[in-house]
Amino acid sequence: MIKYFTEEASVEAVNGRMAEDTDPRLREVMASLVKHIHAFIKETRISQQEWETAVRFLTDTGRLCTPERQEFILLSDTLGVSMLVDAINNRRQMGATENTVLGPFYVPGAPRRAMGDRITLDGKGESCVFEGTVVDLEGQAIEGAIIDVWSDNAEGFYDVQQPDIQPKWNNRGSFVTGADGGYSFIGIKPVSYPIPDDGPVGQMLKHLGRHPFRPAHMHYIVSANGFQKVVTHTFVGDDRYLSSDAVFGVKATLVAPFERLSGEEAEWRSRFDFVLSPM
Ligand code: BEZ
Ligand code: FE
Repeated sequence: MIKYFTEEASVEAVNGRMAEDTDPRLREVMASLVKHIHAFIKETRISQQEWETAVRFLTDTGRLCTPERQEFILLSDTLGVSMLVDAINNRRQMGATENTVLGPFYVPGAPRRAMGDRITLDGKGESCVFEGTVVDLEGQAIEGAIIDVWSDNAEGFYDVQQPDIQPKWNNRGSFVTGADGGYSFIGIKPVSYPIPDDGPVGQMLKHLGRHPFRPAHMHYIVSANGFQKVVTHTFVGDDRYLSSDAVFGVKATLVAPFERLSGEEAEWRSRFDFVLSPM
């Protein structure tokens, strides 16, 4: 007897169409996706009108995507999906520095700078020395580690969001550790900022009574031969958005101290040691 599509057997009807020789991993992922989407539609009894709204939302999300604006990543970030994928794929030993979201504002190829250099080129913001070491799980210094850093400026925008206003590579740089594993550079004490909220994701947040802000943070990618790359941030501890990050990126171990200095090299200092896990 022919088995036509029915509400009750909807999952079997769709998954039963997959060819015998479908790649096993694709089969597993698609079968689960269909199972969960059908369960979601059934549980919520989505109306025709609601489904049209959903399709329009996803269409608008796609339309907004360009190399400079990735609305789908924002959607994934604000639904906690980016952090979940990251958590599952970057489980580390106790004591190793934890990952968090990369975000859409990373630009590869930041200029290599000398230790102690200033990365802030627009002269704005409260200057802050960022320093610490890159070590292994036994606390041994890692020589030749590459530290790629980036942050927003004092007004809460990344250079790539304001290419006609900010100097290129403003608040970005890359550094290589010497034999002592140490690093230091001068940036600004980071400020909180809203993620781009003038598109469908911003609308979604508004409807859900959620704000679009990220707590102040400095971004890092720390890599070294033989060690797992760490994509992370350090956070300013007294930020009002620490417990309500729009993209769920905060982890307790990533909150760094920021201490006020009395003049000389900078207004603030933040020390943070990166601990890398072996490959
Ligand atoms: C960021 O920290 O740069 C970021 C992360 C996720 C979404 C938007 C921005
Ligand atoms: Fe950021």
